[in-house]
Formats: sequence, structure tokens, C-alpha cells
Amino acid sequence: MSTTIDSTLNEKRTFTASSDFITKATVNAEKLAILRKAAAEDHEGFWGDLAKEHISWHKPFAALLNSNRAPHYSWYDDGELNVSYNCLDRHLSTRGDKTAIIFEGEPGDTTHITYSELHKNVCVFANALKNQGVKKGDRVIIYMPMIPEAVIAMQACARIGAIHSVVFGGFSAESLKDRIEDTAAKIVITADGGNRGGGVIDLKKAADAALDKGCASVEKVIVYQRTNTDVTMQTGRDIFWNDAIEGMPESCEPEWVNSEHPLFILYTSGSTGKPKGIQHSSGGYLLNSIVTMQWVFDIQDNDVFWCTADVGWITGHSYVAYGPLATGATMLMFEGAPTVPDAGRFWKVCQDHKVTIFYTAPTAIRALMKAGDDFPNAYNLSSLRLLGTVGEPINPEAWMWYHRTIGKEKCPIVDTWWQTETGAHMIAPIPGAMATKPGSCTLPLPGIAADIVDNDGNIIDEPNKGGFLVIKKPWPSMVRTVWGDDDRYQKTYWAEFDNKYYVAGDNVRKDEDGYFWIMGRTDDVLNVSGHRLGTMEIESALVAHPRVAEAAVVGRPHEVKGEAIFAYVVLREERPESGINEELTKELRSWVGEQIGAIAKPDDIRYADNLPKTRSGKIMRRLLKVIARGDEITQDTSTLENEAILDQLQGKS
Ligand code: PRX
Repeated sequence: MSTTIDSTLNEKRTFTASSDFITKATVNAEKLAILRKAAAEDHEGFWGDLAKEHISWHKPFAALLNSNRAPHYSWYDDGELNVSYNCLDRHLSTRGDKTAIIFEGEPGDTTHITYSELHKNVCVFANALKNQGVKKGDRVIIYMPMIPEAVIAMQACARIGAIHSVVFGGFSAESLKDRIEDTAAKIVITADGGNRGGGVIDLKKAADAALDKGCASVEKVIVYQRTNTDVTMQTGRDIFWNDAIEGMPESCEPEWVNSEHPLFILYTSGSTGKPKGIQHSSGGYLLNSIVTMQWVFDIQDNDVFWCTADVGWITGHSYVAYGPLATGATMLMFEGAPTVPDAGRFWKVCQDHKVTIFYTAPTAIRALMKAGDDFPNAYNLSSLRLLGTVGEPINPEAWMWYHRTIGKEKCPIVDTWWQTETGAHMIAPIPGAMATKPGSCTLPLPGIAADIVDNDGNIIDEPNKGGFLVIKKPWPSMVRTVWGDDDRYQKTYWAEFDNKYYVAGDNVRKDEDGYFWIMGRTDDVLNVSGHRLGTMEIESALVAHPRVAEAAVVGRPHEVKGEAIFAYVVLREERPESGINEELTKELRSWVGEQIGAIAKPDDIRYADNLPKTRSGKIMRRLLKVIARGDEITQDTSTLENEAILDQLQGKS
């Protein structure tokens, strides 16, 4: 977003935490210096010591980093553990009666679940999964609303060594089917519905539609009843959650797995093809989720931690399902949308449950900022002590609003840069130890060798010169492979600089203080409301419509969403008169919603007789982006086959 880049380029303000915050912080400047020194002196030993300190191993590891199969790396190869044991059992003697999850549903229903209760619920459901035939290594699809049972299902999989793949409830039946088939899942866990945005999302109906289209691997479907909506149950295949857990024992010996055993697969968009299944490990993944809870979120025993992300995204894995529980924290889960019944809902939830740490996406902050200060001002937000953001660059204006209106100028803001592939925060402030700057994710965490390189892979040392964001050394929670497509793993993340660096796909610059400023993606991936969407994915969905011949999708800046989806469409029929056909536009939008999910619906559709292409037939995306932004065309267009279409593309004829 050019406006963001321009304004962040000029951003010179710095903010430090209050002395009270610093005094109580888990990591202060002194401790941070020790961590950085240890990591610099012995990268592997540093991660080895942390893994010993923070994880309860069933069989201790001797091996640290294994690079024999680079660019495939593994950590703690000979160690054995169970992630669910680390999240639950090990807290029972000290925190059994402590609240693990505070849940608030969109209708306002609330529940508190202690660590002992959660442990019991996970054991019971783990036994139910076993009873349904799930074994270590089997894939389990979880397609659920944001309710505790989603976390219970994930933890139960981890407990028995099954590999879960959570599919965001906003994705369509078609997307669900793709993920079921790619993982060859044996079981689907879903719900009748979920409450969202004042209505009900019919999850079971979507799951049925997916299963009707194929998904031969699926043997059972477990259905949690959340909304009590009518569902069709297929005899022999479908079973209600309550029936599945009936009579199941309340204890379940954890399956001790190798540290590298896959914990989960999570799909994310890339610039080509279908979304890729990012495969994470058990031990390494768990470690980074724990240390970042402590370093970045400064998690302490009396905190109420609220990460608003859905469990369908990586943020909901690391900072809802795993990190908070592994650190014995109390966390809040909220089912609904931030604006239901009104734009004060998040702030009311913060007040009612005395939230101390609040973590959300810039898009939500911008939307709530737009709704006006009366909403937050109506609630008592004095419990808050730390705020966080994730998923996209935050513009300094939104950062300042968050700082003043929500944090009352006393809460540090941690702007955390990371990705589905990195498993946990990579570049982020350690709030009790360093200053923050609005719009910057600040400095790489200890043991994270993030840097910037030019086109030839040379490190850029010059301040404020943009380049590719790379990670120069392996870290424990890194992606292990792309499920079923290892070639794609190697090509996407390593090939660019001869396997030397992990290539993140982001453009970034460092300022005079070495602070990182993310400037956007280097590939054809959009960031819509903090969610990654491949332009090609949306184009494929559009051309699958019988009336569409060709489509090109680009992003344009959007005040709230960060980026909006702009589609240029060439029809198989005559172009509509003056380029307007509202009915068709509506149809194409809902078509894309069915193919991918509502988040992928184009905001704008413009019809043209053809697309601007170079002589070699390549679509001139740069030109399309300029037009989508409504900017003046300054580039040379004389190579265009048909210059006259420029008027159509610009919506002038
Ligand atoms: O472009 C970066 C952006 O989101 C991408 C990762 O998306 P995803 O895998 O869906 O994970 C999102 C949640 C971790 C990155 O490549 N991104 C993420 N965090 C930030 C960010 N851009 C700027 N600032 C951030 N804090």
C-alpha cells in the first residue's frame, strides 16, 4: 500500500514501556542482551537449551539441528514428547483449578473451563477418536466454529498422534473438499453450525456438499451441536459428538511421538496453483510457540490472554490452541464478529473478562477505529496491559489510535511479523526490553536470523533500502515441507538463492536503528484483511464460470481491509454495455464465494474485451494495478495490442 509505505518512511516516533511494565516484565533489556549473546555465540545450543527448559520430554533429545537433508531441516531428532501432555498434563499439579479457557459465544453465553476439566475433555474426545478408528499419523479435518470444542479436537489429535488440518469455517464446501482430498483425511470433525455476524454458518451442510463431491478417504464425520440447527446425518458415517464421547474413559495415555512427527498441516495460498499444505513438526513448533508467548506477550500467571484469530489460521494455532495452554495461561475464546451487536463488542468482552493482553489484526483495528471512539470509551479497558497486531502492516494512524484510545497510552504494542510457514513470531518487539515505532515490527527475535538481500542474494546493509526478507539460519518451528508436494516446498522457499536462505516472499527495509519495516509481498499474493489469497486462485475460480473467458486479479489499497480484490473479466459473450452488468457481477461474486469462500469475493469487477498483454502474451499486471488504484498511467503502453481497451479497463467506456 503506497500510502502506508510513504507514511511509515517518515515515521520517527518511538515509544517505550512504562517503568512499571519494565519492572514486572519477564524479559527486560538485560535479559534480552543475554539471550541475544547466547544465540549469537551458539545458535543450535541456544535452541537446545530452550528446548530443555521449556518442554517436558518423554525421552530427552541429544541431537540439535540436523542439516543432512538441507533444505530439509529437523530439530531434536531423537527426542520424544507429546504436545497435548505439554499443554495440559504438566500443569495439573500446579494449575489444575486455574481457568484455561474463558469462552464467550456470539449470543453472549459464557463458560469457564479449568485445566483439569480441559484435560478430561481432551482425554475423553481423544478416546472417542480412537474408538472411531483414528490412529497415529491419520489425518483429521477440523471444520468448526470458534468454540472450545475446536481446541479440544486439536488437542485430542495431538494427544493420539493424529495430524490435524483445520479448515477455516468461512471457506466453502469446494475449498473444504480440496483440503480433505489433499490430506486424504479419515475423519472430519465439524459442527451443525456456528454463530457469526448475527447469523448461523451452516458448517455441516457445507461439509455434506464437500463429501458429496468425492472425498473417498473419509470414513466418519463427527458433528458437534452448537446451534441446534437441523442437519442430515448419514447412517454409518455421521455421529454426533455427544454420542461419540458417550462412555469414553476420562484418561488417555498420550502417544509419545518423535519430535519431528507432524503435528498439523495448515493450508495457505501461494502465487501458483492450489493452496499448499504447510506441514509443521511437534517439538520445534511447540518450542517457538512457548518462547514467543513469554518473550513477546510477556505472559504471566494472572494474565487473561485474548488472541482474536480463528483457529482456522496459523495465529489461532500458535496463540489459541497451543501457545497459551503450553504456558499455563488463561485465554479467552470468542466465537463472534467484532461488530455484533455493535462495534463495541470487542471492548465489552475485554471489560467483562478483564482481558490483560489483546492481540488482533490491523484490519479489525481500522474497522473499529472507523466506527468512532464512543464505542471503546463506553467500556472500562483498564485491565489491558499489552496490545498486539499481526497479519499485515499497520499504518501509523491506526497504531496511534490503538495506542491512545484502547491502550490509554500505557500499553506497549507488539507488531508481530511472521507467517504460516514460520510457526511463530519471528520479528517482533520484546515489550519490556526495547522501544517500538508505529508501523515497524522492530527487530528479529533472539535466534532468528532475519535479514534483507538484493536480487543477487547479497545482504543489504544500507538503511532504508528495500529488498527480500530472508531467514539465514534454520529455526525450530520452521515449515518442514508442503504436504504431498515437496518439490513445491523447495522451489517456493529455497530455490531463489540456491538453498542458502529461507525466502519469506515479503519486501522489507531496515531503518537506521536496524528496525524492520514490511512493505508488502513480492509475489502475486494479496493480503485481504490479514489473510493471504493468491490472485491465481481467484482467477481460476472466475474462469471456471461458464460465462467467463479470461480473468486477471490484482489488489488495490483499501482503507479497512488493507487490500481489496479487483478483478478484470473478459466474457465469452459480448461485453456489457458501458461495462456494467450488476446482475452478472453479483453472480460472479457469489460464484467465487462458493469456489473459495466469502473472503475471496472480488470487491470490484470490471469487464473488458480483452486484457492488456505484452507481445509474448503476458498480462501486464503492473498496468492493471495502476488502473485499479485509479492512478494516472505513466508507463509506456505502446506495446499493447489494442490501446483502446485502456479506456474500458479504466471504466471510461
Ligand atoms: O506479508 C506478510 C504478512 O502476512 C504474511 C503471512 O501471512 P499468513 O501466513 O497468512 O500469516 C499471517 C499471520 C502470521 C507475511 O508474509 N504479515 C504478517 N504479519 C505481518 C505482516 N506484514 C506486516 N506486518 C506484520 N506484522
